[in-house]
Amino acid sequence: MTKPRKTAKPTGSAADFIPPRPTLARLRAASKGCQGCDLFKLGTQTVFGEGPASARVMVVGEQPGDQEDKAGRPFVGPSGKLLDHAFDAAGIDRDDVYVTNAVKHFKWARDARTKRRIHKTPSAGEIRACQPWLEQEIALVRPHVIVCLGATAAKSLLGRDFSVMKKRGVPVQSSWAPAVIATVHPSAVLRAPADQRALAERMFVADIRKVARFLEQESAASQRAAPRSRKFSAWQTSARPSGTSNASTRSSRA
Ligand code: URA
Ligand code: SF4
Repeated sequence: MTKPRKTAKPTGSAADFIPPRPTLARLRAASKGCQGCDLFKLGTQTVFGEGPASARVMVVGEQPGDQEDKAGRPFVGPSGKLLDHAFDAAGIDRDDVYVTNAVKHFKWARDARTKRRIHKTPSAGEIRACQPWLEQEIALVRPHVIVCLGATAAKSLLGRDFSVMKKRGVPVQSSWAPAVIATVHPSAVLRAPADQRALAERMFVADIRKVARFLEQESAASQRAAPRSRKFSAWQTSARPSGTSNASTRSSRA
C-alpha cells in the first residue's frame, strides 16, 4: 500500500484499512496507506508500532514526535531515550517490550517565530479513528502489561474519565490485558522545571518498576501452578528434551 494523495478524503476510521488475516507485518504495510482521519495529510508517514510479537509489555504513547515522523519509527527521539533508561533501570529487557502510539501520524503546527514544528494534541475523534490499529496490535501481541504514557493513551484504553494523576502506577485489570498501568508521558518529565526534573524522573522510573513487579508476581504465580502442568506435559511428551516441553508457555516465560 502506498502513501495516499493529500487531496484524498478521510474515511473516518482506520478500520477501513485493516487487511484480511492480519499479522504485524501486514498491518504495518497496510497502515502506510491509512486515510482514517485527516492526519495522514499532515504527517510525513505512518509510524506503526515496533518490537517483538512475543513481548510481554506493550508501551502506548500518544503520537509520533518530530523525530519519529521523520524516521518512521516510534520513540527514537528524546522521549524514547528516557523510556529506554527507565526500562533499563527497572530491569526490563527491551526485547520484552513492544512500543506503539495511540495515534500513528504526527499532528503539528508551524511555530510562527521559531519555524519549528510544534506538537499538537490529537482530538478525541482522531484517537477514535486510529484505535483499530492499536486494537489489532494488542490482539496480536497479547501483552501481559500495557503501559499507557500520558492522558491520550490512557483515555484511549481506559476511558475518557480516567485520570493519570490520580491513578498513576496502579495496575488496572482490563479486557485489553491482565494489567494496564498508566503513567505520565516522558515528554512531561523532560519538560519539568529544573528543580523538579530529578523527582519527576524518579517517579517515572518508579512507575515502570511497577511493571517489572507485576511481571515478577505473574511468573511466580505461574511457577506455583507449574508442578501440575509439568506432570501433564511429561506424560504427554516424554521424548522431548527438557526446556522445550509444553510447560514453557507464554505465561510461564521468565
Ligand atoms: N512521543 C510519543 O508519544 N510517541 C513517540 O513515538 C514519540 C514521542
Ligand atoms: Fe490513519 Fe491513524 Fe494516521 Fe489517522 S492518524 S490517518 S487513523 S494512521
